[in-house]
Amino acid sequence: MISLNIEKTLGFISKENVFAYEAQVKAAQEALENGTGKGNDFLGWLHLPSSITKEHLADLKATAQVLRENCEAVVIAGIGGSYLGARAVIEALSNSFAWLQDKKSGPVILYAGHNIGEDYLYELTEYLKDKKFGVINISKSGTTTETALAFRLLKKQCEDQRGKEMAKKVIVAVTDAKKGAARVTADNEGYKSFIIPDNVGGRFSVLTPVGLLPIAVAGFDIEKLVAGAVAMEKACGKDVPFAENPAAIYAATRNELYKNGKKIEILVNFNPKLHYVSEWWKQLYGESEGKENKGIFPASVDFSTDLHSMGQWIQEGERTIYETVISVEKTQYSLQVPSDEANLDGLNFLAGKHVDEVNKMAELGTQLAHVDGGVPNMRIVIPALNEESLGGLLYFFEKACGISGYLLGVNPFNQPGVEAYKKNMFALLNKPGYEEESKAIQARL
Ligand code: PA5
Repeated sequence: MISLNIEKTLGFISKENVFAYEAQVKAAQEALENGTGKGNDFLGWLHLPSSITKEHLADLKATAQVLRENCEAVVIAGIGGSYLGARAVIEALSNSFAWLQDKKSGPVILYAGHNIGEDYLYELTEYLKDKKFGVINISKSGTTTETALAFRLLKKQCEDQRGKEMAKKVIVAVTDAKKGAARVTADNEGYKSFIIPDNVGGRFSVLTPVGLLPIAVAGFDIEKLVAGAVAMEKACGKDVPFAENPAAIYAATRNELYKNGKKIEILVNFNPKLHYVSEWWKQLYGESEGKENKGIFPASVDFSTDLHSMGQWIQEGERTIYETVISVEKTQYSLQVPSDEANLDGLNFLAGKHVDEVNKMAELGTQLAHVDGGVPNMRIVIPALNEESLGGLLYFFEKACGISGYLLGVNPFNQPGVEAYKKNMFALLNKPGYEEESKAIQARL
């Protein structure tokens, strides 16, 4: 189970003020449970972990097995909430060098549809040229340009290389039950498909097939992931007292910090495998809270790497930041620092120590330095990088995000702001139906 410690924020804000949120948090929890708050048509994520059935997991695992057996590579096509959760879990659990290993334990997992990089897509299609590959096409709307464009390329290549019949077997859709181009294509072509529930928004969808299918294809245990989330659903439940509810404390603390001028939250890890957990978290909080000219700006760093780039700013820059550190208690493997007779690097004082002992002292030393430098610190400890811990961590952040958004007074479940760039892009590309916008935007150039 994960734990949250806010002690190192208390020189900057008072415990009393954090606990003063208790009634507001209770109201937010009730609004979530009763569906009486803003965005209440998107609350399907709230009890998702405990409502996932064995049959559903078995269906996902069976489809994953088909892909694992028939593919050397599987491309996850999706953007934002339709890919970040899967990538967060897969990268956290994968061997850092898995894709370079000759003997692979499953298909190489690749990503597309999350950018419009011509060179990226060219290089991807080149890499796939001699590979037996499959695609998971993930899009709730089924019309997202980035994903649709990548899928158009990948579908054709898969059919050309593997034939229509095999393509049908190794292309899977995760999309809306009824609407959108991805649904129509899946039905017309006869692809296996999974439904993204109407009431679950993209950034809260990691525990739907959006996240679960790719994670299963990558060879990880989705039952354990869900079990971790179920445990956290309980731990953050509405009847859990405020002081014992990590989601409540996190939501209250970050709102109190924000009120005290801390406008930027930096999610920190000391394990490079957590990089994409931070990317997922940034989307979750950025899209949920950044509206109505309000919201904490979610940023992230990978330490100790970024201590050599961003460390200076964090230590001595503008004092508008706080950090939330995710600490992984136990490593998966064991590696000790060897002794060296010449000791030219002067590191013999570390000989015999585990690398993680050094990392943990870097973590502690950094926390103390940053607190001394005026940066409040929260600390989330997860026992290990495994499916259970990650399932718990993801649900914890989701629940806290729902509460936190309500404390801030915004609708945490919409994202009206993401339409602005799309409208301009379509106008600039002369998309049919955008004639007026095209004229208007051309006049501005
Ligand atoms: O959280 C969100 O709603 C967004 O990030 C979407 O997931 C993203 O824009 C992709 O949308 P779609 O799944 O419709 O392709």
